[in-house]
Amino acid sequence: MPEHGVQDAEFTVLKDADAVARDVADRLMERALAAKGPLSVALSGGSTPKKFYGLMAGKDYADRFPWERVHFFYGDDRFVPHDDPDSNAGMADRLLFSKIDIPAANIHPMPDSGDAEDAARAYERNLKEYYEADTLDPGRPLFDIVLLGLGENGHTASLFPRQPVLHERERWVATCVPDDAPHTRLTLTYPAIASSREVWFLVTGQGKQQVLERVRAGDPAEPASHIVSEGRITFLADSAAAGESRT
Ligand code: 6PG
Repeated sequence: MPEHGVQDAEFTVLKDADAVARDVADRLMERALAAKGPLSVALSGGSTPKKFYGLMAGKDYADRFPWERVHFFYGDDRFVPHDDPDSNAGMADRLLFSKIDIPAANIHPMPDSGDAEDAARAYERNLKEYYEADTLDPGRPLFDIVLLGLGENGHTASLFPRQPVLHERERWVATCVPDDAPHTRLTLTYPAIASSREVWFLVTGQGKQQVLERVRAGDPAEPASHIVSEGRITFLADSAAAGESRT
């Protein structure tokens, strides 16, 4: 399958952050209902997914969504206990998974204790068990959908500027200690994210306008610019992040 990068990505602009959340929920609903077998989704972190989680937990979506068919992984997490307010997995549990009926085996949080390197290796083993192979086959993506956020410093997942993880081409999961953000993190690497049918960047707020423009132009200084997918990349942005004024 040919690889796609950020410069040939689709770009969808929605009115505001609520509209972006609804668009993501509708897309996910459509993919999950159409899926013939299990669907693997890697969730993004930070605050952007909050609205999306709230929608998915609501009756309009929760009652129709085929939870038993979807496996939820994480693109990255802060290496803190899941009950820490900064935990991506803790946020998803609080806002979504605690409110719906989903098999516990379908939720795959990153480890949150012990040694960070051991935790990264453990999560990689988890992914390999799910994938039922130890090497990524270009014709058989690991993820159906990878959701990604975008930081103002150009990071995505926990692929932060100036960090060794940006050069990792073998491991599927690695640690990252940013020099411009708190917490040691665990993150999917570029090759793991590339093993996907679709990558959706969720980008909202005027603060992201400049970096979104640079990433869409493929500025190599931005870690997010180096994201590729075996399938399609789509930017789902609100008008503020897209620099469009919409009433
Ligand atoms: C994290 C993320 C990170 C996030 C961006 C955007 O754990 O911090 O996964 O990549 O998606 O920093 O964060 P916001 O949605 O809070 O702007």
